[in-house]
Amino acid sequence: MSVITRQAQQEIAGEKLTGRVAFVTGGTRGIGRAIALSLASQGATVAAGYGQNEERAKAFMAEIEETGATASIHQGNVGSAEDCRRSVAEVIDRHGHLDILVNNAGITADRPVLKMSEEDWYKVLAVNLSGAFFTSKVALEHMLERGTGRIVNISSIIGQTGNIGQANYAASKSGLFGLTMTMAREAAHALAKAGKLTEDSLNVTVNAVAPGFIETEMVETVPEKVIEKLRLQIPLSRLGRPEEVARVVHFLCADASSYITGQVWAVNGGMEM
Ligand code: CAA
Repeated sequence: MSVITRQAQQEIAGEKLTGRVAFVTGGTRGIGRAIALSLASQGATVAAGYGQNEERAKAFMAEIEETGATASIHQGNVGSAEDCRRSVAEVIDRHGHLDILVNNAGITADRPVLKMSEEDWYKVLAVNLSGAFFTSKVALEHMLERGTGRIVNISSIIGQTGNIGQANYAASKSGLFGLTMTMAREAAHALAKAGKLTEDSLNVTVNAVAPGFIETEMVETVPEKVIEKLRLQIPLSRLGRPEEVARVVHFLCADASSYITGQVWAVNGGMEM
């Protein structure tokens, strides 16, 4: 697994997000961890959600605080609507407001359709898709009141192409595209109605990022023979790195990205074009 060194952090550091508060679900490891570090490197205060592994969450806190960033960790099951609502409220309570929500938490339960159980279907949809809906619902209301905000949904190339063994995951990740575009339209409409959509307003934008195969624990579970087949389909001939996804997220969250909404940003080594 690739590691973001402090030196690399400093090299990409900036001030695009100074004063902003960001909540990243599943933010203590994998792509979420890289996103949290990258938002923090641009000056954001970062709240990271985690499911069960408190030890790892604490290690993440130590790591991010070492960079000088302000951060907090929030336990919750993204598959539970109640936990989603509580976590967002907790972040707003703790930091005073919320500017950025990154719906990153995701799970897989890979099986061919004919062998996929009802439980595997529902649990993946609950975390990957319904979780994003429930956190966004609370965050969006808060952002619309303030007239500014950023929601970024971490989807996947699998939502664009499908994949053997991933009917539940693919459906959840495709679902995020529909959720993203709908929330982007509704946010713009609500701002316009409230007279908050001016020439130079920061807007409330909602976008999706669709990573390809990235070096994370999730991809480590894929059988080697399958990874070899997949690698042949990547024009750039390697898996991606978490920080290569993270930089697109902080770009979308910047004030200067206020004219980008309802879009899907792919980071996949050219695998889908
Ligand atoms: N692409 C191409 N071929 C695949 C495949 C895939 N994704 N998944 C399985 N196959 C092929 C296998 O190579 C095998 O082919 P052969 O019979 O020619 O050898 C055949 O399908 C059956 O596969 P298994 O022998 O592995 O059968 P199984 O029943 O034991 O397991 C499976 C089936 C659970 C689907 C398993 O193959 C598997 O885990 N596949 C990988 C699924 C995958 O790609 N997951 C991605 C996880 S990472 C992620 O999701 C992050 C992201 O956003 C990209």
